[in-house]
Amino acid sequence: MEQSNYKYLPKDVDKIVIRDFSFDFPADLDPVWVPGNPVRSHLFNGFSMTMPYLEPFLIRAILKAKKHITDPELLNDMSGFNRQEGNHYKCHRRYNELIKTNGYPELEELEKRMTEDYVRLETKSLRTQLAYAAGFESMTNGFTHWLITKRVGLFAGASQHVSSFWLMHMIEEAEHKTVAFDAYMAYSGKYLPRALGVLHGSGHIVGLGIRGMLGCLKKDKILYRPSTFFKILKEFFLFIVNVGPFCFRALLPGFNPRKERDLQWMNDWIEGYSTLSEGAPIPLLDTSNPNMPVPF
Ligand SMILES: [Fe+2]
Ligand SMILES: [Fe+2]
Repeated sequence: MEQSNYKYLPKDVDKIVIRDFSFDFPADLDPVWVPGNPVRSHLFNGFSMTMPYLEPFLIRAILKAKKHITDPELLNDMSGFNRQEGNHYKCHRRYNELIKTNGYPELEELEKRMTEDYVRLETKSLRTQLAYAAGFESMTNGFTHWLITKRVGLFAGASQHVSSFWLMHMIEEAEHKTVAFDAYMAYSGKYLPRALGVLHGSGHIVGLGIRGMLGCLKKDKILYRPSTFFKILKEFFLFIVNVGPFCFRALLPGFNPRKERDLQWMNDWIEGYSTLSEGAPIPLLDTSNPNMPVPF
């Protein structure tokens, strides 16, 4: 049964839209999809590797939580959350297969480790699992803001497919940003485990992403170069400056993702997508445009 003091609050988006989340990645896709920047490419690829393990875990945690929740609006959100995450990880899996085939089969080692990690996590209490889910999702909202506001600096000249794929994923993440938090609050609501979940969920995924990146840089035989070291420092700095404040706010008592406002670019993208005709392919971001407007 859900917590008696839990009350569903209105959110920014009217509903969580289920879209056809698919990209036709070219078969010869270069895993270094940000030209001249293997560090950034491999860092994002490392994060992508985690998705087919993380997102099914989130779905299972939300399904388990559903049995304890009665609020019809929250239950509806939870269904939308699971359908969006289901679409995300399937597309990431296709992308990840290409990354492995096109140069980095060693990433399978990371996949084995993730399988074990999530088996272990699922032996923990549902409260711990939901806190992890809510914590990870609060970091993701920071990721969305980073990728959208700094899209020109991050993706200038990069693969249109991969840049569009990441941005669309993050837009849907912001669209369902309240759901894992609400599920946790309805199931438990306790502050301390939720705060620990921010560190656990964020730290785990960031750690795995970095591990994937380091493995690929080693394969490229550039890991131990001083220039690579400084590029890694730069990416960490950008990540901490842009995503850190979101994690920090999520750690505070009284946090609610509803307080994090959505960006206009994201709203324009959602509006643009709604004008697409049934079955039309998702238009790709023009990464050569100095403003990178929404591609609709
Ligand atoms: Fe997702
Ligand atoms: Fe999500």
